[in-house]
Amino acid sequence: MHIAVVGTGYVGLVSGTCFAEFGMNVTCVDLDKDKIKRLRKGEIPIFEPGLEDLLKKQIKTNRIAFTTDLEDAVKKSDVVFIAVGTPPNSNGDGQADLSYVREAAKQIALAMDGYTVIVTKSTVPVGTAQEIEKVIRDARPNGDFDVASNPEFLREGAAVNDFMRPDRVIIGTSSERARKVLQEIYRPLFLNETPIVFTKRETAEIIKYAANAFLATKITFINEIADLCEMAGGDVQVVAKALGLDGRISPKFLHAGPGYGGSCFPKDTLALAQTGQKFEARQRIVETVVAVNTERRERMAQRIIKACGGSVSGKRIGILGIAFKPNTDDVREAPSLSIIPILQDGGAKIVAYDPAAMEQAKRHLTRIDWKNDPYQVADKADALVIITEWNEFRALDIEKIGALMKEKILVDLRNIYKISEMEDTGFHYVSIGRPDVKPEIVHLKKVSAAS
Ligand code: UGA
Repeated sequence: MHIAVVGTGYVGLVSGTCFAEFGMNVTCVDLDKDKIKRLRKGEIPIFEPGLEDLLKKQIKTNRIAFTTDLEDAVKKSDVVFIAVGTPPNSNGDGQADLSYVREAAKQIALAMDGYTVIVTKSTVPVGTAQEIEKVIRDARPNGDFDVASNPEFLREGAAVNDFMRPDRVIIGTSSERARKVLQEIYRPLFLNETPIVFTKRETAEIIKYAANAFLATKITFINEIADLCEMAGGDVQVVAKALGLDGRISPKFLHAGPGYGGSCFPKDTLALAQTGQKFEARQRIVETVVAVNTERRERMAQRIIKACGGSVSGKRIGILGIAFKPNTDDVREAPSLSIIPILQDGGAKIVAYDPAAMEQAKRHLTRIDWKNDPYQVADKADALVIITEWNEFRALDIEKIGALMKEKILVDLRNIYKISEMEDTGFHYVSIGRPDVKPEIVHLKKVSAAS
């Protein structure tokens, strides 16, 4: 089976490499000549654990090739996956910009030779497969082809594992011929008894947005419960744990934090809300999730300012973690990019460190004093703020950090420290949905315990 993958971003590169691992012959296509040159050498332009090793292995087996020549790649392929970007529209209405998808479809139409299955892997709104079919039919009225939908559920930082061991595979097509071809491609997973859902294209397209919106809703829900815990004296981590013990709820995506970010949830929730309006089936829950999540970033900044006594003017604030989540260098829609400028507007001097995302962050943030490790960030800082839960921030030498800082204030927006371990450290420790630890309170408790 010959496969072409158009677009070598996260989705295209991970899918192409993993299809090669499944034993397919894959050609990945991109317009960017430099990128293709690097990929041929096995160098990947993104930070994705495990991907480079797998790619190098597949290059050695000759099952994967890279080219800028779309026509050649499509001609020799039985299946063409469209994995180009679908960024938000430049007019700001929240809808996905499908121009790259349409352009790819047109070029595929002109190049395809013999029966070809064209599959959308990019996240596209409901109705797109039908639209692509029309684009291709207009260009090749007698073309022998089918258009199917096969959305991806890859998490950045865990994408290879998500592809090789997915919870499910969704295939949207009403064509028996296309179904057989796609079933063959996913044969290794089929043999593994991975659930494969065959459905209509429209259903497949909706599944993708519904899945992301549901997860974003879960996160937003627990974030609001965290607010309630703070005001009423509860502990959100215990609440989340107890909720998760109910099999109907599941413990995943119930970690309270500074709000969801990344290249998918913010874009896809907004696009689903827009699609709902377009089809006069408003998605009011999702609309609210978008609004609550946006507002949360401002509130997180205010929380840091409050922890610093109501003003950050002239203060040195240390930031640990810029990426929207750990194990990625991606800063798109990262909470840090909203929080840091608010602190800067308040007069703070920002010192920061991220294990992977500093180069990317430099394109979006200015006036940052970048450091090489958490201890340099803590040095002379008036407060330290954890925004991303990288593993290397989980076991800091708190005593050493405290000794370096000017004021012992730690704001932990990911709850990676236990309240019990922060007591007796002398830190004013502020986290999410849990009681603050304040040195005076700890002291008073101790006095009364002794008396
Ligand atoms: C997400 C989905 O998880 C994938 O299934 C999907 O394929 C992908 O979008 C996509 O559409 O391409 P990703 O954006 O890589 O994947 O990141 P997630 O791990 O889902 O995290 C998204 C955001 O939610 C992050 O900012 C993370 O910090 C936040 N989050 C996640 C929480 O605040 N709490 C949680 O409990 C979980």
